[in-house]
Amino acid sequence: MKTGIIGLGNMGAGMALSARRAGLETYGYDPDTRARAELEAAGVVLVDSIATLMAQAEAIVLSLPNSEIIEQVVWGPGGLLEHGRAGQIVLDTSTADPASTQKIAQALEASPLQLVDGPVSGGPKAAHAGSMTMLLGGDSDNIARLAPVLDALTAKRVHVGPVGAGHSAKLFNNLLCGINLLAAGEAIRVARAAGLNVEQILEGVNAGSGRSAVTEVNCPTWILNGAFNSGFTMKLMRKDLRLAAEMIEKSGAAAPLSREALRLWADSVATLADEEDFNRIVDFVEPNK
Ligand SMILES: NC(=O)c1ccc[n+]([C@@H]2O[C@H](COP(=O)([O-])OP(=O)(O)OC[C@H]3O[C@@H](n4cnc5c(N)ncnc54)[C@H](O)[C@@H]3O)[C@@H](O)[C@H]2O)c1
Repeated sequence: MKTGIIGLGNMGAGMALSARRAGLETYGYDPDTRARAELEAAGVVLVDSIATLMAQAEAIVLSLPNSEIIEQVVWGPGGLLEHGRAGQIVLDTSTADPASTQKIAQALEASPLQLVDGPVSGGPKAAHAGSMTMLLGGDSDNIARLAPVLDALTAKRVHVGPVGAGHSAKLFNNLLCGINLLAAGEAIRVARAAGLNVEQILEGVNAGSGRSAVTEVNCPTWILNGAFNSGFTMKLMRKDLRLAAEMIEKSGAAAPLSREALRLWADSVATLADEEDFNRIVDFVEPNK
């Protein structure tokens, strides 16, 4: 399956390399990729327009920063709608606004293009290894058609519902991850202040029901060793949590804990720059708390 990847950043570049390694003919478009030399050396064909990519690719994978940019790539001048051909299928792996995803799916209904949303977990490391977890939203037949691409990029996938459901599930995932990071940050501070060995305390937590991906993976890999180099920025996490906040508001459901956690993430902008690693939130403390 000829594959075109639009957006070759921390995630998209890794996906392009994984697609090549799996033997897929791979095209890439990103006016500003940092990975040009590595991608070209691996045989990824870098093109200078969406039109050129669309003339080749059967599967079009999006890995873009946000829904505004995705919409521009879909129906902006020179975008996917202008160049779509019968048989082409779009897989949006970005973390995006589910309402926008549904709007895009409706717009594509009048075109030859089909849409599946497949936001991912695992970070740049899993994108490079072809071992991401993907939450799929869309028609089962469309997902089945994407099998060669999904096999190349993922180790695990879960079909969570119709178009847009993948993006909704991803927002719940990141909301819970954001809450867990704040909670783990508090546990670490309290353990340190009490003179305890934090590593050993977390080993105990990870043997019990208080554990989470944050205590099992983030703490040893990026937090306790001071590395803070996960490849996922505060800027992208704040975008995801703003979308989660909108989802909560629209639902009208009571969510006091989520609202408080989202307020802390939003307030952290004063001391934690957008370029910082998202795990840095563990050190965020409001004055006088
Ligand atoms: N980094 C992570 O750990 C991670 C994990 C899961 C999901 N995500 C999601 O994946 C998506 C990509 O994340 P990332 O970390 O790779 O971001 P990134 O900022 O590293 O990469 C985004 C890329 O998109 C490119 N781009 C912007 N506008 C474009 C356009 N019009 N046409 C083509 N390319 C364009 C940029 O030049 C950049 O290279 C985001 O939606 C993010 O929320 C990231």
